[in-house]
Amino acid sequence: MSDQPHPQDRTRVLIPAERIQARIVELAREIRADLGDGPLTCIGVLKGSFIFMADLVRALDGPVRCEFLGVSSYHGGTRSTGVVRITEDLSHPIEGHHCLLVEDIVDTGLTLDYLRHFLEGRKPASVHTVCLLDKPGRREVEVAPDYVGFTIPDEFVVGYGLDLGEFYRNLPYIAVYSP
Ligand code: IMP
Repeated sequence: MSDQPHPQDRTRVLIPAERIQARIVELAREIRADLGDGPLTCIGVLKGSFIFMADLVRALDGPVRCEFLGVSSYHGGTRSTGVVRITEDLSHPIEGHHCLLVEDIVDTGLTLDYLRHFLEGRKPASVHTVCLLDKPGRREVEVAPDYVGFTIPDEFVVGYGLDLGEFYRNLPYIAVYSP
């Protein structure tokens, strides 16, 4: 028998795949309406945002650059360590670029707060932030993403890029994980 967790065992669907796709189209329209049609550097935060990033950039009209930042803040459990570490830097300078930081979920807010300051240090023209999911009930620092896909309650979620111990990222929907 494999020791891999089995999705059906401990998860229930919170946001179905179709709702995620519909919301991403709306978000892309909102972002372009606010930020204009010019070049936009989308910066996906790995690993959790890789699927959201892929769907969002395809929904965005106009010129888009794709960059990634590797960040580690969890170490296999369901609670943050509070320590943010850059594991992979941008591949190009972003000085003078209009940037959109693409996050999977904002929980305590520590990661978003850290990354916003990190990017601002690279002298971009602007930094906006979009997260697919927001858990405002668990904030430890006051940060508000500019664009939010869905506001969710304080539950640990997996799927659509989000993991538990590196599993479940491949689920096409967002599910609540109950141990
Ligand atoms: P924060 O720094 O506490 O806001 O957490 C940000 C990161 O923690 C996210 O980018 C996720 O990778 C991870 N995270 C927070 N909540 C969850 C969750 O419910 N499921 C999976 N990962 C989560």
